[in-house]
Amino acid sequence: MSEKNAPIDVTSPNAEDAWVSVIQKMDEAYADLVHSQVEVEEKNAELEESKLFFDSVQSSMSDVLIVCDQVGAIQRVNRALERLTGKSSEQLFGVHFTELVDSRYLQKVNSFLTQIKLQPVKDCELELKTQEGSVPLSMNCSPRRNHRGRLVGMVLVGRPLGELQKAYIELNSAHAELKLAQERLVQSEKMASLGRLVAGVAHELNNPISFVYGNMHALQRYTDRLSQYFDAINEGQSREALREMRESLRLDKLIKDLNSLVEGTMEGADRVKEIVNDLKQFSSSQESEKQLFDLTHVIRTALHWIIKESKRPIEVVEKIPDKVQAFGHSGQIHQVVVNLIQNAVDAMSDSSRQCLELTLKQSDYQIEFTVTDSGPGISEENLSRLFDPFFTTKPVGQGTGLGLSISYGIVSEHGGVLEIKNCDPQGARARLVLSSQEPADV
Ligand SMILES: Nc1ncnc2c1ncn2[C@@H]1O[C@H](COP(=O)(O)OP(=O)(O)O)[C@@H](O)[C@H]1O
Ligand SMILES: [Mg+2]
Repeated sequence: MSEKNAPIDVTSPNAEDAWVSVIQKMDEAYADLVHSQVEVEEKNAELEESKLFFDSVQSSMSDVLIVCDQVGAIQRVNRALERLTGKSSEQLFGVHFTELVDSRYLQKVNSFLTQIKLQPVKDCELELKTQEGSVPLSMNCSPRRNHRGRLVGMVLVGRPLGELQKAYIELNSAHAELKLAQERLVQSEKMASLGRLVAGVAHELNNPISFVYGNMHALQRYTDRLSQYFDAINEGQSREALREMRESLRLDKLIKDLNSLVEGTMEGADRVKEIVNDLKQFSSSQESEKQLFDLTHVIRTALHWIIKESKRPIEVVEKIPDKVQAFGHSGQIHQVVVNLIQNAVDAMSDSSRQCLELTLKQSDYQIEFTVTDSGPGISEENLSRLFDPFFTTKPVGQGTGLGLSISYGIVSEHGGVLEIKNCDPQGARARLVLSSQEPADV
């Protein structure tokens, strides 16, 4: 038996010492107890503080938080979920989390418990049942493990999509409105250039129409003469009388003429059709697919109309090979070409020498079109503003200031280049680069 645990003989002379030592031990034990008590209290205060900290973090979260056990029974929720469902955490305790989810999404959420064993679920869109009906949420779900790494449940964090979705819908409709406004602008610019060209177009239409009209008059007269002759045949007139009639009505010349009259009329009608077709390029607001089109034709028609409308003696140097094809929307590129040529012609309105040079070159798949004028060129301060919407130096009715900005948009959308520079010693040159091939990444 050790000395420490030996019974004390209270009659022995050492008894007093023994009591003293007992009391000392008791004192020590008491001091230890007091010390432990203080430590426990301190730890308790720390715990309390961190609980308050986590509670405040949880309750200030706007995302909803649901902590479940391994079968999906709710163990804890935050204030955001209480607010959303209108139920307290006590009411929600033990409820299976799927009971909070709109029945349309049950299949999705039922698989959460198995899915998280493989990987966390991210941004799963579902709807929670709330007092005010279903609320859309984007839900993330992660496994919850204990200190040994064993799966003990899961943590669901959901972000209400209401606000996000509302903002998204508003953004979408603003975008659609902007697109519509932009389309209207493009269209009105087109109409403005068409308005300027209309006088020339009307004149151009007049020509073929007037000779179709003239031919029809001649045909009408011919029909009268032929009817007279056929009537005479029907009446049984003599061969001699008929021969004389044929001569006086000049029927042989008439028959020879008929062919060329019909041909001429057809030509006139074809020309009208061509003009109408050219005009269609202005009115086509929406085009379907990009495709290969005859850029030479687009340039020549644009040039033809603009020169006609200008009614000025412009010297035109045209270095344009036949049938150069570009890839894109022909109507849109027509709008760009019309604007570049029109700008060049406008720029020369006060110049003594009015010379317009157009070139078109193709190397491999790249097509380069240039329009050079002998006008005054562009001042340094205006050069940087050329492509700004509504920038114009022209009087009202002649310029919208939209031509180059719209052209730039069209050319960029075609993956091309559009630039304008001054030339030495005078004038300006617009350069348009397009491709004759569909871009590989489209
Ligand atoms: N070839 C050019 N020479 C001189 N100035 C030009 C030329 N091309 C364009 N500009 C200038 O750029 C401005 C903007 O052109 P644009 O966007 O087509 O609008 P608009 O032709 O309606 O004025 C013109 O008003 C003009 O001042
Ligand atoms: Mg213009």
